Amino acid sequence: MASSAAGCVVIVGSGLIGRSWAMLFASGGFEVKLYDIEQQQIRNALENIRKEMKLLEQAGSLKGSLSVEEQLSLISGCPSIQEAVEGAMHIQECVPEDLELKKKIFAQLDSIVDDRVILSSSTSCLMPSKLFAGLVHVKQCIVAHPVNPPYYVPLVELVPHPETAPTTVDRTHALMKKIGQCPVRVQKEMDGFVLNRLQYAIISEAWRMVEEGIVSPSDLDLVMSEGLGMRYAFIGPLETMHLNAEGREECSLSDPRVKLSERISEFEYN
Ligand code: NAI
Repeated sequence: MASSAAGCVVIVGSGLIGRSWAMLFASGGFEVKLYDIEQQQIRNALENIRKEMKLLEQAGSLKGSLSVEEQLSLISGCPSIQEAVEGAMHIQECVPEDLELKKKIFAQLDSIVDDRVILSSSTSCLMPSKLFAGLVHVKQCIVAHPVNPPYYVPLVELVPHPETAPTTVDRTHALMKKIGQCPVRVQKEMDGFVLNRLQYAIISEAWRMVEEGIVSPSDLDLVMSEGLGMRYAFIGPLETMHLNAEGREECSLSDPRVKLSERISEFEYN
């Protein structure tokens, strides 16, 4: 395995999400060490990553400026967590979504890491205040929640524990940008973070309209896939409202959207 001047990242848990992170970090020139409780999972991950990267190269979709072989040479398996974390700058936990299991992993990491490495969780919905409670290195802890499939979907939600140091958020933000992802800062932890809250709001309204017989399930899906979804792939709801004066005229004065759109123009949009 080649060592990298960019630094070393450890992936704890070599399943679906761990493999994607490994490919992304290697595409950014980082040395990646894969750890898993199951040795066979590490072997499977290395084989699967090699196949995936070759296919991506053939399709002209490989990320980064390094060749497949250069990227593959950056990734290796490590049977010991203690050995893996030595000299690491970032540890990305990717074990199953189980609070007690993740707490156990972070407690173990807490006892072996230095004061600089970032301890990051891929959790989809566990709150940082529960995940990192009582850790000595809590200032270095953060949630970096990717969206499946992370190699193709760039968004990463960064969610700090209340005691996470601002430098931890900034360093994780910079690291995500360096590997071509699009990090967003969630300023306070909240159930579902941001993406899933938006998703649940849409699903809830979709169910309501289908249940009330306003639209069929297949037509409801077309509204999203052939309409709103196309717009939202390029421009978010707040920017749409900020720019869309016409849309404002269509709202009645009692419509809460008017107040919201007026409020949005009060904020600097960036
Ligand atoms: P997975 O089940 O594919 O992989 C989990 C891996 O963790 C397995 O290889 C397993 O052997 C390993 N593992 C279990 N116990 C371990 C231990 N004590 N130490 C080291 N490794 C251990 O799970 P997946 O889908 O990759 O999810 C991982 C995390 O990513 C979860 O927190 C999940 O919520 C989050 N996530 C998942 C997404 C998805 O669509 N699958 C999307 C975004 C986040």
